[in-house]
Amino acid sequence: MLPAAIQHPGAVTATEGTGPLPASLARRSPQEVETTVTSTTSAHDDRPGGGRARLNQRTLRTDRWWLGPILTTLGLATFLVYGAARVFQQDHYWVAEHHYLTPFYSPCLAAQCAPEASLFGRVPWELPPFFPYALLSLPILLLFRVTCYYYRKAYYRSIWQAPTACAVREPHRSYTGETRPLMLPQNGHRYFFYAAFVITVINTWDMLVPYFHGTEGGFGIGVGNLIMLVNVLMLWGYTLSCHSCRHIMGGRLRSFSRNPVRYWAWTRISTLNHRHMLFGWLSIASLMTTDAYIALVASGTITDLRILN
Ligand code: FES
Repeated sequence: MLPAAIQHPGAVTATEGTGPLPASLARRSPQEVETTVTSTTSAHDDRPGGGRARLNQRTLRTDRWWLGPILTTLGLATFLVYGAARVFQQDHYWVAEHHYLTPFYSPCLAAQCAPEASLFGRVPWELPPFFPYALLSLPILLLFRVTCYYYRKAYYRSIWQAPTACAVREPHRSYTGETRPLMLPQNGHRYFFYAAFVITVINTWDMLVPYFHGTEGGFGIGVGNLIMLVNVLMLWGYTLSCHSCRHIMGGRLRSFSRNPVRYWAWTRISTLNHRHMLFGWLSIASLMTTDAYIALVASGTITDLRILN
């Protein structure tokens, strides 16, 4: 939290913010903070949401505030580049012996998909080159992540720099919120949640099937099974901790006591919701790890280490 003077440009003399101050301000006396904030902000635009805190200095902070945005940008870029490279590779996505299917190709719907990898069948015509085999799920999952409340904060700050960090001067002169046409799909996040929920169920099925395809047939466990299990747990953690899921569970209720089941679910989802950012990053890491492992096994680079059969 910042002092009200920085959060609300109009209140340039207020210093009654209730949360902790940035480290650079926290070391100063209240009088110094008030003087600093007052002297570094200027008049604002009165339109709703139209004003931005104007800092004459580049920043008021002395801590490593730039580290978060840099790491966020690197993390998102790594995931996007890796994901695009694998989706367009269109190979090494399926281990026939143990029925490992990478989540980047699930459900596999293209005519080129291996028949056993296609849970819901295949479209009858060959897709043009570079068309994702998981042609339905990938756009949904991409929109689910892009419109996620946490990721919005992450890329608005680190990539769009609006603002880069608290008490750091930003390059934008005005604020339009999410009212521009390009931003309106952000409001559809709740609908992408329903679709993503179904896809996570499909990923769970993909994870369970390989347990019944051991080396000799029947039940078996390999390292691939365990990696896929961890990935599905992370995906559920991310999906269920979604703010839309929390609202579905406990929103629009006048009385929790008359809806004990929804209240119980809401409290559990709320606990997960506190860790939504963590699940966001862990699920990205587990997706890439699962895909890389399956690609290495499918290409014959490594063999799956079997624990049982
Ligand atoms: S808020 Fe992040 S997935 Fe819904």
